[in-house]
Amino acid sequence: MKWRIAVLGGDGIGPEVIEASLPVLRATAERFGHEFTADVQDVGFAAYERSGHPLPEETLAACRGADAVLLGAVGDPRSDGLPVELRPEAALLSLRKEMGCYANLRPVRLLPALASASPLRPEIVAGTDLVIVRELAGGLYYSEPRGPVEDGQGAVDTMKYHQDEVARIARMAFETARGRRKSVLSVDKANVLHSSRLWRRVVDEIAEEYPDVECSHMLVDRAAMELVLNPSSFDVMLTPNLFGDVLSDEAAAVIGSIGLLASASIGSGGGIFEPVHGSAPDIAGTGTANPLAIILSAALLLRHVYSLNVEATAIESAVEQVLEDGLRTRDLVQDGEAAVGTEEMGRAVAAMISNVEASADA
Ligand code: IPM
Ligand code: MN
Repeated sequence: MKWRIAVLGGDGIGPEVIEASLPVLRATAERFGHEFTADVQDVGFAAYERSGHPLPEETLAACRGADAVLLGAVGDPRSDGLPVELRPEAALLSLRKEMGCYANLRPVRLLPALASASPLRPEIVAGTDLVIVRELAGGLYYSEPRGPVEDGQGAVDTMKYHQDEVARIARMAFETARGRRKSVLSVDKANVLHSSRLWRRVVDEIAEEYPDVECSHMLVDRAAMELVLNPSSFDVMLTPNLFGDVLSDEAAAVIGSIGLLASASIGSGGGIFEPVHGSAPDIAGTGTANPLAIILSAALLLRHVYSLNVEATAIESAVEQVLEDGLRTRDLVQDGEAAVGTEEMGRAVAAMISNVEASADA
């Protein structure tokens, strides 16, 4: 198979972690007889500095022309004073919209080798294995009106959902649950928000199409609490855009580090595969960032875009194996342990690709 992937490093640690993930993709392509071409483009503040726009035309064209996009991170403190439409985050939001990505899947699984990296007691975090299905193209991030009002003395954002937007993301959650433990927990704030009452009604309607999947609801404040009290109780968490953003960072901390969380932004097209972590400007350029989130995002890409389950599982097994072998980036080390750098971690996973057992359920 030919893989044509648009590769966008972006800002901060983005380019470093992307760089570390390419040997893993190359090793996977080589082992399983595929051809991998990367169309490298810039996005975010890096693109703004070079071309005056955070999402240049050629970047968008490359993303549209590729099978899928692998994206590092966007965000740079130097963009703080820029008009919103020129800020790096705006580029990511338009890219998601332009690419038809309305669903963001964020798998959160405790890796056995990292049980002690969680800030939670082992008996609480044991068995944590959930997926956040976050609505990605609507809600508070996009609805109008938004922006300054009252001559800049006030500002407004709008949380609006149309029932069709809720229905399609709900279906995505129920479909995801069918491939797992068949349980969807929908998160909202229906005791206060109108958009959440609509959300809850539509989720209940869609649930009827999936009688084999259990469906329940939880208010977002309670869900935030349950996630640390009882993380292993969740299977699929279905959330509106903003709530999913917040809960996924919390969930990442539960399993040990945000440097581990991968995501698939999917919908009508090929999709954008991006780590949940941001650009981490404080450690950019130090070579210490954890590349595992982007490497695991590349695995999601192979699974979702090309249905290459064996290849994706090989990458995931290679990651687990290097962690079993004791390799840790700085975010994962505990007292006295030595840390490896970004590049070394990438090379170790790439080298492991040829050693792992290759079967769909390895
Ligand atoms: C994420 C990020 C983005 C978001 C930012 C960078 C716009 O935090 O993917 O979680 O809020 O969606
Ligand atoms: Mn976020």
